[in-house]
Amino acid sequence: MRIEDIEYALSYGDVLLVPKKSDIDSRKNVDVSTHLTKGIKLNVPLISANMDTVTEAPMAIAMASNGGIGIIHRFMDMEKQASEVRRVKRSQSYIIDEPYSIGPDATVGDARAVMSKNGVSGLLIVDKSHKLLGILSDRDIRFVKDDKTSASRAMTPRQRLVVGTPGMSSEQALSVLDSHRLEKLPLVDKDNVVRGLITSKDIYRTVNSEQSAKDRRGRLLVGAAIGVKGDYIDRADALVNADVDLLVLDIAHGHSASVLEALRKIKKAIPEVPIIAGNVATKEGAEDLISAGADGIKVGIGPGAACITRTVTGAGMPQLTAVMDCYEASRKHGICLIADGGIKTSGDITKALAAGAGAVMIGSMFAGTDESPGYFSVRNGAKYKSYRGMASFGANVSRKKMDKKEIDPQDIFDIVPEGVESSVPYKGSLKEVIKQLVGGVRSGMSYCGASSLDELRKNAKFVRLTTSGLSESYQKLS
Ligand code: XMP
Repeated sequence: MRIEDIEYALSYGDVLLVPKKSDIDSRKNVDVSTHLTKGIKLNVPLISANMDTVTEAPMAIAMASNGGIGIIHRFMDMEKQASEVRRVKRSQSYIIDEPYSIGPDATVGDARAVMSKNGVSGLLIVDKSHKLLGILSDRDIRFVKDDKTSASRAMTPRQRLVVGTPGMSSEQALSVLDSHRLEKLPLVDKDNVVRGLITSKDIYRTVNSEQSAKDRRGRLLVGAAIGVKGDYIDRADALVNADVDLLVLDIAHGHSASVLEALRKIKKAIPEVPIIAGNVATKEGAEDLISAGADGIKVGIGPGAACITRTVTGAGMPQLTAVMDCYEASRKHGICLIADGGIKTSGDITKALAAGAGAVMIGSMFAGTDESPGYFSVRNGAKYKSYRGMASFGANVSRKKMDKKEIDPQDIFDIVPEGVESSVPYKGSLKEVIKQLVGGVRSGMSYCGASSLDELRKNAKFVRLTTSGLSESYQKLS
């Protein structure tokens, strides 16, 4: 290579977006929604990183409730990871998968006990094969004096019930509940076997939480990470069985033969679930992952707050250039890019989106919130929460402990960390952090005259900064 062949590469801090004439009168009119894959729409373009100090179920629930998505990390056994996914899927569902039920021989006294123990106002009456026989609501038994009365005498029988089907959408269910003025809609299959229950209270609550990122059944969206070694196909299967919406095949150097092979295998074994693959930092990397079947591409080699990859290895790519280069490949296929790592301000998010990303993945900025795993510590009167790179020494040791019961001391000596263990200031609730970030992005988009992310990508013009431009740009007073 000759010196003149060396190319320039830029990061977020090296550029600014040029302000343009704007017709946007309020930043509320700026649409920040994005399609991660064909079937997955987020209301805000934010993803919480699959790191053990960032995303487990509470973070994923809060992310999706605020319009984004969380990716459950993979540094736990597959059953635990699948159960974290289930926690998210159950957290705000309007469909109760296993509604409380009793048999026809139970008494009104039994029904009262089950209702009061579980705090519900009605029970399904089912036979031994779980076929629906009727509904017993508190209204049906309000005036029944004798507790020994059989539930099947007091219930509203099946022939007088309006029922729904398991695959019906929230709109269909709402219209049935509305037109018949119902409180409860049991879902039964063609054999009259109970497959769920929708209550008007749950569905109104879910439909009214417009900001949440939800699946077809009104459950919060959630993703989960997998690797390329060992039991990764079984892990993917367990996650799919837990109803995960999205898999993230996440390896530090995603442009590698092992990732491409694993990606092809997973796409063949589980074609129904979208997979985001990474990390890459070049057009060639993105192109190869797309050819191997990736539904989305994660971009970023070494920009993260806890990363020391560039220092340790000498390899990496400034993040703005990485995103712009990968976008050349992804735009042809209409595939979403996720700019992963290095986001320090809301302005960085606007720049990443303008450069071609459909969403950004964030670690350190979300790590100090109430919803991140772990507790806060106090130093000099200020609160902190821990944050560590997944290739840090501590994370490597934890991973080895998870894989083997006995660790060979040599394994520990052989670790070459590419991440650090640290802490970040405690930031309170995730909702407030997201509010500030999204507010900044909306405002940035209006400066660019863009009312949608598509328009931002089309309209955006960057200028490079000099050192004095840089010092003029960032906070000057403290
Ligand atoms: P931020 O800047 O948001 O970055 O904290 C989060 C992203 O950092 C990546 N990551 C690592 N990169 N060594 C690395 O080189 C590590 O130990 C490490 N841990 C996380 C990851 O892509 C994450 O989403």
